[in-house]
Amino acid sequence: MTATHHFDILIIGSGVAGLTLALQLADHAQVAVLSKEQLEEGASLYAQGGISVVLDQADSLQSHVDDTLLTGAGLCNEQVVRFTVEHARESIEWLIDQGVSFTKDGVTSETYHLTQEGGHSHRRIIHSADATGREVETTLLGKAQAHPNIHLFPYHIGIDLITSQKQFGDKDNQCLGCYVLDIKADTPLTFTAPITIMATGGAGKVYLYTSNPDVSTGDGIAMGWRAGCDVANMEFVQFHPTCLYHPKAKSFLISEALRGEGAKLLLADGCQFMDRFHPQVELAPRDIVARAIDHEMKRLGDDCVYLDISHQSKDFIEQHFPTIHRRCLDFGIDMTSEPIPVVPAAHYTCGGLMTDIHGRTNIAGLYAIGETAYTGLHGANRMASNSILECLVFAHSAAQHISQQLPLSSKGSTIPAWDASRVKPAKEVIAVSHNWDELRRFMWDYVGIVRSDERLHKAQNRLKLLQQEISDYYRQYRITSDLLELRNLADIAELIINSALQRKESRGLHYTLDYPNTNNDKPAIDTIITGKS
Ligand code: FAD
Ligand code: SIN
Repeated sequence: MTATHHFDILIIGSGVAGLTLALQLADHAQVAVLSKEQLEEGASLYAQGGISVVLDQADSLQSHVDDTLLTGAGLCNEQVVRFTVEHARESIEWLIDQGVSFTKDGVTSETYHLTQEGGHSHRRIIHSADATGREVETTLLGKAQAHPNIHLFPYHIGIDLITSQKQFGDKDNQCLGCYVLDIKADTPLTFTAPITIMATGGAGKVYLYTSNPDVSTGDGIAMGWRAGCDVANMEFVQFHPTCLYHPKAKSFLISEALRGEGAKLLLADGCQFMDRFHPQVELAPRDIVARAIDHEMKRLGDDCVYLDISHQSKDFIEQHFPTIHRRCLDFGIDMTSEPIPVVPAAHYTCGGLMTDIHGRTNIAGLYAIGETAYTGLHGANRMASNSILECLVFAHSAAQHISQQLPLSSKGSTIPAWDASRVKPAKEVIAVSHNWDELRRFMWDYVGIVRSDERLHKAQNRLKLLQQEISDYYRQYRITSDLLELRNLADIAELIINSALQRKESRGLHYTLDYPNTNNDKPAIDTIITGKS
């Protein structure tokens, strides 16, 4: 018999999106927050550059809106962009009220230091040196741990959503909770709640090289899709132009804020090259910089390019980029006097579970917020530092919408427990680990920065074989977190490949050799893949 836990609200994910929502609701409801790793682990913890917000007198909300729309390459939902930009300031004020400390301007202690990143036409990134995510995540987590109504479940991984359609054959699909594996106890559990929120982050781990932490396996998007959620624009995977290139440096980002402070991209011979690709040179939108680097690396057969900020003083670098400086020194690179070797890597999932402005999906009782969601803010390319902003604004908006429904009633008591009676323990795990590697490698080789129909079809064929193996394995053997993640990654790969094949043009982050131009004759359309059930 597996245990059942019942709460008013079930939040899957303890990044900035999940914790913000939990803190907003906890005074009025019993809230469970699940995390498949330790609680602070997730992309939020590693965010470096900061959060975009209009604070400078010379800046304007309209300029932030315009920059976001331009970067999004014609696919942003303008109403959502405006909504997000207009709510940025109050989201930052809320963070400051929670105790988050942002770097102040050196001149007066009243104003905040703002940096600039690709696509932004003003300095508008508020930050905590180069470790903004750590400051925000750990502050919010401290608050959540102290709240009596927030119940935190680390090392609990969501397996699949429980829906009324699957359980009772209902015509109108409603989310009733989630089956969850308690990883440490190796026990499946049932979590029920009238409202469930997916806040599981992105899916960068579907690629061999990524800036993302291990937890970013797209679980929420895959679980939501299997339960019947519509998914949009998965072809738009953002590759960050500058991750540290070193055999031992697993997924370490070199923030775009360096380029905001004048860092130059160089080839091995010391020459700059971005002027050949875009008038904004190093501060062009990310898709353009990443493609330019990829192009130069392929043209010259080089393993990396270089990022040079050594024109800034040692004091400036140590003050503004202490984390990056320390990490580079760990690998024998002194960025105060030499260029840093860098390569592009998968960084951000622009697509996701489709939501409205309150974070609602097309399944009743199921919301999605943060990187898991597709709200329409980012369109075909996310502008730097708009992501944590989206987590905050949509967590607030979802909280308001959910608060209006309190107190909540539930259908949860009749849900059957997870059935593990027909599976046996796996004899060996090599099939799972091999398929993990194979999937991530063909996604990198065939579905990466530059695509073609031929490459996408090759990936699709390999994926079909792999999915068959995963499904056979899933039916026969007991679940583990590695197996669950692999199954989710395969669904994510399917969504990315199918979305990429549907888009017969190049736009924003999706570039294909077969259709190199943007189709400007017709209105831009989202690629929507309807939910599975
Ligand atoms: P995450 O913070 O990734 O949290 C996901 C949570 O879901 C984790 O708790 C995880 O354990 C949990 N989870 C996942 N699957 C399951 C499951 N099956 N069951 C239970 N729990 C699960 N954006 C900016 O705006 N500014 C920046 O400066 C910036 N810098 C970045 C630097 C790096 C290195 C990276 C990787 C990203 C950066 N981004 C930045 C993007 C931004 O950090 C993320 O988009 C954002 O933090 C995502 O937050 P989230 O709450 O949606 O997800
Ligand atoms: C960075 O600091 O370069 C990352 C910013 C982001 O992804 O928004």
